[in-house]
Amino acid sequence: MWRKDSWKSYPIKQQPVYPNQNHLEKVLNKLEKLPPLVFTNEIKNLQNALIEVSRKKAFLLQGGDCVESFDDFNIININNMFKILFQMAIILTFSGDFPVVKIGRIAGQFAKPRSLEFEEYQGKILPSFRGDIINDFKFDEKERVPNPDRILKAYYQSVKTLKILRNFSKNKLLNLNQILNFIKINKLDNKYQDLSAKISQYFCIQNDCNTITNTFYTSHEALLLPYEQAMTRLDDLTNQFYNYSAHMLWIGERTRDINGAHIHFLSGVKNPIGVKIGPSAKIDDLIKIAQILNPDNEEGRLVFIMRMGADKIDQILPNIFKRLSKEGLNLIYSIDPMHGNTIKVDNLKTREFDKISKEIQSFFEISYSEGVFPGGIHLEMTGKKVTECIGGVGNITKYDLRECYESKCDPRLNVEQALELAFLIANLIKKGKK
Ligand code: PEP
Ligand code: CO
Repeated sequence: MWRKDSWKSYPIKQQPVYPNQNHLEKVLNKLEKLPPLVFTNEIKNLQNALIEVSRKKAFLLQGGDCVESFDDFNIININNMFKILFQMAIILTFSGDFPVVKIGRIAGQFAKPRSLEFEEYQGKILPSFRGDIINDFKFDEKERVPNPDRILKAYYQSVKTLKILRNFSKNKLLNLNQILNFIKINKLDNKYQDLSAKISQYFCIQNDCNTITNTFYTSHEALLLPYEQAMTRLDDLTNQFYNYSAHMLWIGERTRDINGAHIHFLSGVKNPIGVKIGPSAKIDDLIKIAQILNPDNEEGRLVFIMRMGADKIDQILPNIFKRLSKEGLNLIYSIDPMHGNTIKVDNLKTREFDKISKEIQSFFEISYSEGVFPGGIHLEMTGKKVTECIGGVGNITKYDLRECYESKCDPRLNVEQALELAFLIANLIKKGKK
């Protein structure tokens, strides 16, 4: 029997150890009584939008920071993120002639799974940073102790972020100059002629255009289960449990064990769910995951987010698609070309634009040849001009990385790299339309 707290009797990974359990309980009691961040009708709207994706009539664009931070919280950053996601959505909409479902990694993306329990710096060893909802990035013994008060701070920052996002999405006019300038500066007119013509045209008539909707959804990794439990409530009307901390939640590559607490917990909430799938995944487990998380085989409920790495995807993905297609499971397939392509240069995590592009290209090609719909893309990106990933039209080299490296966790595409990728994906979507 599933209950909000039944996950506690399952094996669990990647959780902080709070030194004071009473303190944690007090915080969670408070959180349980605080208002929801999102609403049932919005969650249902997202599922309906995802049903369109599963019927090959829409495309999913999910993206944002690897991890949100308390220090970087300001309206300019939120505006930049909103803008880049919409600009990418516009590029993708015109290539596919279908709507793009926009989901941010935002307003709750605060907890991180870590490969290593401890971090070493200048001979000192401390517990790893696990995201601002848990401990502090500062390399200091006290600051790295998990502190429950951070849970409330993350909640309130999410409240404010959503308030800003809701206001932005009411505003119909979007300044597309940035896309047009990007095309001009980088002389992409020839390569993407049709697309840039359509975008210019849209630019002139955007007041009458209904193709682009401003609807925007939120998502994060459901990692810190005490937080997720406190935000999960029974909806009176449907008599179902929903998680009201985000419209969509996903389970990470490190916590998707079929017998683990995370899969069990999310099997009981009605929100659309994502699962990250890495190269070591066993196909039988994937079938079981789909059966546990989506026992009624509902459309628009489950997104498998593939993150194999550019060098592995060609060997692994065709078999997965072949087997899963035979099972008749309702699944949306999306590609995360970031997490399988992380490398370290001079002690900084980075990713090469070419590898990212290559994995996306393979994903589309394999999907088309296996008769599967490539339904979406999942990116770590920012609307800022950071230098965290190598390559792209800006020709960022490994020597430029320290110039503007702001991420507290994984490297993000900058604004130009994100736009360039949108054009590349647009072309791949167009190929499938022919
Ligand atoms: C992430 O999306 O930031 C992440 C940690 O991904 P994964 O679980 O795929 O490694
Ligand atoms: Co990441």
